[in-house]
Amino acid sequence: MTGHQPIQGDVIVTLDGPAGTGKSTVARLLAGRLGLEFLDTGAMYRAAAAITLDRGIDLADTQTILTVVADADLHFDWTQDPPTILAWMNPYNQRIRDPDVTKIVSQIAAIGKLREHMVRKQRLIGQQYPRLVTEGRDQGSVVFPDAEVKFYLDADPAVRAMRRAEQMRLAGNEPPPEAELLHDILLRDSRDSTRKDGPLICPDDAERVDTGPISIDEVVSYLERRVRLRLANRKS
Ligand code: DC
Repeated sequence: MTGHQPIQGDVIVTLDGPAGTGKSTVARLLAGRLGLEFLDTGAMYRAAAAITLDRGIDLADTQTILTVVADADLHFDWTQDPPTILAWMNPYNQRIRDPDVTKIVSQIAAIGKLREHMVRKQRLIGQQYPRLVTEGRDQGSVVFPDAEVKFYLDADPAVRAMRRAEQMRLAGNEPPPEAELLHDILLRDSRDSTRKDGPLICPDDAERVDTGPISIDEVVSYLERRVRLRLANRKS
Protein backbone atom coordinates (compact mmCIF):
# COMPACT_ATOMS: atom_id res chain seq x y z
CA MET A 1 0.00 0.00 0.00
CA THR A 2 1.21 3.49 -0.77
CA GLY A 3 -0.77 5.25 1.99
CA HIS A 4 -3.06 7.86 0.59
CA GLN A 5 -1.48 11.24 1.13
CA PRO A 6 -3.59 14.17 -0.06
CA ILE A 7 -2.09 15.64 -3.19
CA GLN A 8 -0.72 19.18 -3.12
CA GLY A 9 -2.27 22.20 -4.76
CA ASP A 10 -5.31 22.64 -6.99
CA VAL A 11 -6.28 20.04 -9.55
CA ILE A 12 -9.43 19.20 -11.48
CA VAL A 13 -9.81 15.54 -12.46
CA THR A 14 -12.68 14.75 -14.85
CA LEU A 15 -14.33 11.34 -15.26
CA ASP A 16 -16.77 10.95 -18.12
CA GLY A 17 -18.44 7.91 -19.62
CA PRO A 18 -21.73 6.08 -20.02
CA ALA A 19 -24.01 4.70 -17.29
CA GLY A 20 -22.92 1.57 -15.45
CA THR A 21 -19.16 2.00 -15.78
CA GLY A 22 -18.86 2.50 -12.03
CA LYS A 23 -18.06 6.19 -12.53
CA SER A 24 -19.77 7.54 -9.41
CA THR A 25 -18.23 4.99 -7.07
CA VAL A 26 -14.83 5.32 -8.71
CA ALA A 27 -14.94 9.13 -8.60
CA ARG A 28 -15.96 9.18 -4.93
CA LEU A 29 -13.26 6.71 -3.87
CA LEU A 30 -10.62 8.39 -6.01
CA ALA A 31 -11.45 11.78 -4.49
CA GLY A 32 -11.12 10.25 -1.01
CA ARG A 33 -7.71 8.78 -1.78
CA LEU A 34 -6.38 11.99 -3.27
CA GLY A 35 -7.87 14.26 -0.61
CA LEU A 36 -10.08 16.04 -3.17
CA GLU A 37 -13.78 16.97 -3.23
CA PHE A 38 -16.20 14.87 -5.29
CA LEU A 39 -18.83 16.31 -7.65
CA ASP A 40 -21.61 14.06 -9.01
CA THR A 41 -23.07 16.11 -11.86
CA GLY A 42 -25.54 13.34 -12.74
CA ALA A 43 -27.23 14.12 -9.40
CA MET A 44 -28.00 17.62 -10.70
CA TYR A 45 -29.75 16.33 -13.85
CA ARG A 46 -31.48 13.67 -11.76
CA ALA A 47 -32.73 16.34 -9.34
CA ALA A 48 -34.10 18.34 -12.29
CA ALA A 49 -35.89 15.19 -13.53
CA ALA A 50 -37.32 14.48 -10.05
CA ILE A 51 -38.58 18.05 -9.75
CA THR A 52 -40.24 17.80 -13.18
CA LEU A 53 -42.06 14.63 -12.12
CA ASP A 54 -42.95 15.82 -8.62
CA ARG A 55 -44.36 19.12 -9.88
CA GLY A 56 -46.29 17.35 -12.64
CA ILE A 57 -44.60 19.43 -15.36
CA ASP A 58 -45.01 18.24 -18.95
CA LEU A 59 -41.68 17.02 -20.33
CA ALA A 60 -42.28 19.09 -23.45
CA ASP A 61 -42.68 22.29 -21.38
CA THR A 62 -38.97 23.09 -21.24
CA GLN A 63 -39.49 26.73 -20.23
CA THR A 64 -41.38 25.77 -17.05
CA ILE A 65 -38.82 23.06 -16.27
CA LEU A 66 -36.08 25.66 -16.54
CA THR A 67 -37.90 28.22 -14.38
CA VAL A 68 -38.81 25.74 -11.63
CA VAL A 69 -35.37 24.10 -11.55
CA ALA A 70 -33.71 27.54 -11.32
CA ASP A 71 -36.08 28.40 -8.46
CA ALA A 72 -35.08 25.17 -6.63
CA ASP A 73 -31.53 26.57 -6.34
CA LEU A 74 -29.88 23.14 -6.66
CA HIS A 75 -26.70 22.90 -4.68
CA PHE A 76 -24.74 20.44 -2.60
CA ASP A 77 -24.31 20.10 1.13
CA TRP A 78 -20.52 19.71 1.22
CA THR A 79 -20.53 18.81 4.91
CA GLN A 80 -21.89 15.35 3.95
CA ASP A 81 -19.80 12.53 2.52
CA PRO A 82 -20.66 12.11 -0.29
CA PRO A 83 -22.15 15.61 -0.66
CA THR A 84 -25.96 15.50 -0.82
CA ILE A 85 -27.97 17.47 -3.33
CA LEU A 86 -30.52 19.99 -2.05
CA ALA A 87 -33.55 21.44 -3.83
CA TRP A 88 -35.32 24.31 -2.06
CA MET A 89 -32.84 23.53 0.74
CA ASN A 90 -34.28 19.99 1.18
CA PRO A 91 -32.21 16.84 0.59
CA TYR A 92 -33.12 15.15 -2.69
CA ASN A 93 -30.47 12.43 -2.73
CA GLN A 94 -32.88 9.53 -2.10
CA ARG A 95 -35.56 10.59 -4.57
CA ILE A 96 -33.13 11.05 -7.47
CA ARG A 97 -32.29 7.32 -7.59
CA ASP A 98 -35.93 6.20 -8.04
CA PRO A 99 -36.65 4.24 -11.25
CA ASP A 100 -39.15 6.81 -12.60
CA VAL A 101 -36.43 9.47 -12.39
CA THR A 102 -33.86 7.23 -14.09
CA LYS A 103 -36.33 6.59 -16.91
CA ILE A 104 -36.76 10.24 -17.95
CA VAL A 105 -33.48 11.84 -16.91
CA SER A 106 -31.76 11.59 -20.29
CA GLN A 107 -34.69 13.50 -21.85
CA ILE A 108 -34.27 16.22 -19.22
CA ALA A 109 -30.49 16.25 -19.76
CA ALA A 110 -31.07 16.93 -23.47
CA ILE A 111 -32.65 20.36 -22.81
CA GLY A 112 -30.02 22.80 -24.07
CA LYS A 113 -30.94 25.75 -21.82
CA LEU A 114 -31.01 23.51 -18.77
CA ARG A 115 -27.53 22.23 -19.64
CA GLU A 116 -26.29 25.84 -19.87
CA HIS A 117 -27.70 26.43 -16.38
CA MET A 118 -25.98 23.30 -15.01
CA VAL A 119 -22.68 24.05 -16.74
CA ARG A 120 -22.65 27.51 -15.13
CA LYS A 121 -23.35 26.00 -11.71
CA GLN A 122 -20.66 23.34 -12.16
CA ARG A 123 -18.04 25.90 -13.17
CA LEU A 124 -18.89 27.95 -10.08
CA ILE A 125 -18.44 24.82 -7.96
CA GLY A 126 -15.07 24.32 -9.68
CA GLN A 127 -14.08 27.84 -8.62
CA GLN A 128 -15.21 27.27 -5.04
CA TYR A 129 -13.67 23.81 -4.86
CA PRO A 130 -10.64 23.85 -7.18
CA ARG A 131 -9.43 20.52 -5.77
CA LEU A 132 -12.06 18.35 -7.40
CA VAL A 133 -12.85 14.99 -8.95
CA THR A 134 -15.92 15.59 -11.09
CA GLU A 135 -17.92 12.98 -12.98
CA GLY A 136 -20.57 13.13 -15.68
CA ARG A 137 -20.81 13.07 -19.46
CA ASP A 138 -19.40 16.47 -20.47
CA GLN A 139 -16.96 17.32 -17.69
CA GLY A 140 -13.75 17.01 -19.71
CA SER A 141 -15.28 18.15 -23.01
CA VAL A 142 -17.48 21.15 -22.09
CA VAL A 143 -17.45 22.09 -18.41
CA PHE A 144 -13.74 21.84 -17.61
CA PRO A 145 -11.92 21.65 -20.96
CA ASP A 146 -8.70 22.81 -19.24
CA ALA A 147 -8.85 20.15 -16.51
CA GLU A 148 -5.40 18.83 -15.73
CA VAL A 149 -6.31 15.11 -15.75
CA LYS A 150 -9.13 13.55 -17.77
CA PHE A 151 -10.43 10.01 -17.90
CA TYR A 152 -13.14 8.34 -19.94
CA LEU A 153 -14.52 5.17 -18.36
CA ASP A 154 -16.15 2.61 -20.59
CA ALA A 155 -17.38 -1.00 -20.44
CA ASP A 156 -19.30 -3.44 -22.58
CA PRO A 157 -23.07 -2.65 -22.39
CA ALA A 158 -23.86 -6.19 -21.13
CA VAL A 159 -21.41 -5.74 -18.25
CA ARG A 160 -22.98 -2.38 -17.46
CA ALA A 161 -26.48 -3.90 -17.42
CA MET A 162 -25.29 -6.58 -14.99
CA ARG A 163 -23.77 -3.92 -12.73
CA ARG A 164 -27.01 -1.94 -12.75
CA ALA A 165 -28.93 -5.07 -11.69
CA GLU A 166 -26.46 -5.64 -8.86
CA GLN A 167 -26.75 -2.00 -7.72
CA MET A 168 -30.54 -2.28 -7.62
CA ARG A 169 -30.36 -5.50 -5.58
CA LEU A 170 -27.97 -3.84 -3.13
CA ALA A 171 -30.43 -0.94 -2.82
CA GLY A 172 -33.15 -3.49 -1.94
CA ASN A 173 -35.01 -3.28 -5.29
CA GLU A 174 -35.80 -6.24 -7.53
CA PRO A 175 -34.20 -5.42 -10.92
CA PRO A 176 -36.15 -5.88 -14.17
CA PRO A 177 -35.02 -8.68 -16.53
CA GLU A 178 -31.50 -8.15 -17.86
CA ALA A 179 -32.71 -7.72 -21.46
CA GLU A 180 -34.87 -4.79 -20.32
CA LEU A 181 -31.97 -3.22 -18.41
CA LEU A 182 -29.72 -3.61 -21.45
CA HIS A 183 -32.37 -2.00 -23.65
CA ASP A 184 -32.66 0.98 -21.22
CA ILE A 185 -28.89 1.38 -21.09
CA LEU A 186 -28.53 1.36 -24.87
CA LEU A 187 -31.38 3.85 -25.17
CA ARG A 188 -29.76 6.15 -22.62
CA ASP A 189 -26.34 5.80 -24.31
CA SER A 190 -27.86 6.73 -27.61
CA ARG A 191 -29.77 9.74 -26.17
CA ASP A 192 -26.70 10.93 -24.24
CA SER A 193 -24.31 10.64 -27.17
CA THR A 194 -26.50 11.99 -29.95
CA ARG A 195 -27.93 15.11 -28.25
CA LYS A 196 -26.95 18.46 -29.69
CA ASP A 197 -25.61 20.04 -26.48
CA GLY A 198 -22.84 18.47 -24.43
CA PRO A 199 -23.09 14.99 -25.97
CA LEU A 200 -21.24 12.12 -24.33
CA ILE A 201 -17.86 11.94 -26.07
CA CYS A 202 -14.37 10.88 -25.13
CA PRO A 203 -12.29 14.10 -25.17
CA ASP A 204 -9.09 13.80 -27.28
CA ASP A 205 -6.93 14.46 -24.25
CA ALA A 206 -8.70 11.95 -21.96
CA GLU A 207 -7.33 8.52 -21.13
CA ARG A 208 -9.87 5.81 -21.96
CA VAL A 209 -10.15 3.06 -19.35
CA ASP A 210 -12.13 -0.15 -19.89
CA THR A 211 -13.62 -0.97 -16.49
CA GLY A 212 -15.25 -4.22 -17.74
CA PRO A 213 -12.47 -6.71 -16.95
CA ILE A 214 -11.29 -5.20 -13.65
CA SER A 215 -12.84 -4.57 -10.25
CA ILE A 216 -13.86 -1.12 -9.05
CA ASP A 217 -11.02 -1.21 -6.57
CA GLU A 218 -8.50 -1.95 -9.31
CA VAL A 219 -9.91 0.91 -11.40
CA VAL A 220 -9.54 3.32 -8.48
CA SER A 221 -5.97 2.19 -7.76
CA TYR A 222 -5.05 2.53 -11.43
CA LEU A 223 -6.51 6.04 -11.70
CA GLU A 224 -4.88 7.08 -8.45
CA ARG A 225 -1.48 6.00 -9.80
CA ARG A 226 -2.11 7.84 -13.08
CA VAL A 227 -3.11 11.09 -11.34
CA ARG A 228 -0.12 10.99 -8.98
CA LEU A 229 2.23 10.29 -11.87
CA ARG A 230 0.77 13.13 -13.93
CA LEU A 231 1.09 15.58 -11.05
CA ALA A 232 4.63 14.43 -10.25
CA ASN A 233 5.56 15.48 -13.79
CA ARG A 234 3.89 18.86 -13.36
CA LYS A 235 5.94 21.80 -14.55
CA SER A 236 5.85 24.25 -11.67
O1 DC B 1 -24.55 9.36 -14.21
P1 DC B 1 -26.05 9.34 -13.97
O2 DC B 1 -26.73 8.05 -14.36
O3 DC B 1 -26.42 9.76 -12.59
O4 DC B 1 -26.62 10.47 -14.96
C1 DC B 1 -27.97 10.73 -15.05
C2 DC B 1 -28.32 11.30 -16.43
O5 DC B 1 -27.83 12.63 -16.54
C3 DC B 1 -27.81 10.52 -17.63
O6 DC B 1 -28.85 10.31 -18.55
C4 DC B 1 -26.78 11.39 -18.24
C5 DC B 1 -27.09 12.77 -17.74
N1 DC B 1 -25.89 13.54 -17.46
C6 DC B 1 -25.50 14.45 -18.40
O7 DC B 1 -26.11 14.55 -19.44
N2 DC B 1 -24.41 15.23 -18.15
C7 DC B 1 -23.73 15.10 -17.02
N3 DC B 1 -22.66 15.89 -16.81
C8 DC B 1 -24.11 14.15 -16.04
C9 DC B 1 -25.21 13.37 -16.31
